[in-house]
Amino acid sequence: MKVSIASDHAGYDMRQLVIKHLTDKGFEVIDGGAVSATERFSYVEAGNKVATDVLTGKADRGIAICGTGIGISMVCNKHKGIRAALCNNEYMARMCRQHNDANVLAFGARVVGPEIAFAMVDCFFEEEFAGGRHAERVGQMKQTEEENFK
Ligand code: RB5
Repeated sequence: MKVSIASDHAGYDMRQLVIKHLTDKGFEVIDGGAVSATERFSYVEAGNKVATDVLTGKADRGIAICGTGIGISMVCNKHKGIRAALCNNEYMARMCRQHNDANVLAFGARVVGPEIAFAMVDCFFEEEFAGGRHAERVGQMKQTEEENFK
């Protein structure tokens, strides 16, 4: 599984930890975004990178990190076909896969610590989409995109 990960400066340190966590588990990682924690980097650019990597098939899924996770998740969700889930705990990371078929996990490096981040990342890759009635809802989301994305 190929994972695109990007962050702004606020998410830089956390991104390094998550990359190590992923590579230790055998994931192929495409890294993008801020080059340090001190040099400012827009979460918009970072979110666009993750979304584009997923939509072009360069990556199977994405991880997007900023200070709160809010800005970068908003950016990812501006891309048609991206379902970015802003998660703060393991339960949300589990549910965003089972119920929402999320293809991008977003979180805030100033909100969760590394252990919670690792647990969320693990859930995000372990859980499968449940389908059934949830497929109907995801279909409705896609229809909403068709109607509203110009
Ligand atoms: C950067 O200071 C901060 O605004 C950004 O990381 C993020 O939290 C925005 O949503």
